[in-house]
Amino acid sequence: MKKKVLVTGGCGYIGSHTVVALIQNNFEVIIIDDLSNSNAQTLNNIKKITGVKPTFCECDLKDIHHVKNVLKYNKDIEATIHFAAYKAVGESVAQPLLYYQNNLVSLINILISQLELGNINFIFSSSATVYGNPKKLPITEENQTERPFSPYGNTKKIAEEILEDLSKVNAESNMISLRYFNPIGAHESGLIGELPTGIPNNLMPYITQTAIGLREKLSVYGNDYPTPDGTPIRDYIHVVDLAKAHVKALKRQLQQKQEKNFETFNLGTGNGYSVLEIIKTFEKVSNKKLNYEIVGRRNGDVPSLYANAKLAEQKLLWKANKSLEEMITSSWLWEQKARHQTL
Ligand code: UFG
Repeated sequence: MKKKVLVTGGCGYIGSHTVVALIQNNFEVIIIDDLSNSNAQTLNNIKKITGVKPTFCECDLKDIHHVKNVLKYNKDIEATIHFAAYKAVGESVAQPLLYYQNNLVSLINILISQLELGNINFIFSSSATVYGNPKKLPITEENQTERPFSPYGNTKKIAEEILEDLSKVNAESNMISLRYFNPIGAHESGLIGELPTGIPNNLMPYITQTAIGLREKLSVYGNDYPTPDGTPIRDYIHVVDLAKAHVKALKRQLQQKQEKNFETFNLGTGNGYSVLEIIKTFEKVSNKKLNYEIVGRRNGDVPSLYANAKLAEQKLLWKANKSLEEMITSSWLWEQKARHQTL
């Protein structure tokens, strides 16, 4: 019998890649998504890749009655992987309540509904943003968390605190929070990937949209940081590697291998690359010159963030193994294919 897993936000960027990895690892997947930042066509594309179309419920997680109803018909789920959230940093600064309401109410509703089933196997989609501006690099899970700069980031930190509090009173619960560094790339088929609505906030989609002619030029936010070339350093990780880490975390959870009922893991490669290095690699793999200019710093950016991902290697038996070139090649393939698909 296949084990059933609920994936919230399963039509989104990281969610859809994780659904593919779950199906390929013989799990049965139920997706809940409100399609606010994704598209139901993704379900067909998941089928093209895996041969299986996952069960789908269009549901806003803020509506607890609807969530409870979905779970009532899926009492046999073994775990939830919770991706559904808003994620635009700038928008969260402008509309904090929207972010606190959506990201935290959704989390609480899914936890309450799952508790009623008597099963709290839960994997949470967190972010390196919980480390704020780190005092020590590379970042281990022992690094102090800090109040993140943005309300978006703060929803991730508060969510982890909610899970930790819940773990203290529910000895039976098993929860894992995965702290992503900078996910980029797309599935090698070019069938699923990130399709930002409006102007992208993140570097990679901005680069590919500029190269394809949707944006005039990329602004590089500052070259006066204390880094070798003056531009900020991040730990970019291939979304397909990231997706596989969720399957490993789920297996650890279901095989009762957790050492504490709330665990956190960094998911990164351990390598840091600067903005200019990313641009250079893009120009190399795409054979295109990118139009960019150096402008002033962006509010809230920190000079350097990269992971020590040894804990995930030891405990989840997972290691990112895709190169920066593979990440950027797949992002570029996706950009070129995505606009020709019926999305
Ligand atoms: N950058 C540019 N120009 C752009 C976009 C980004 O120069 O148009 C630079 C940024 O200044 C930064 C680097 O590219 O130095 C990476 O920026 P991203 O926006 O791609 O990623 P961030 O590291 O800022 O954001 C990521 C996640 C967020 C998370 C944040 C926490 O995408 O979800 O890390 O640090 F909140």
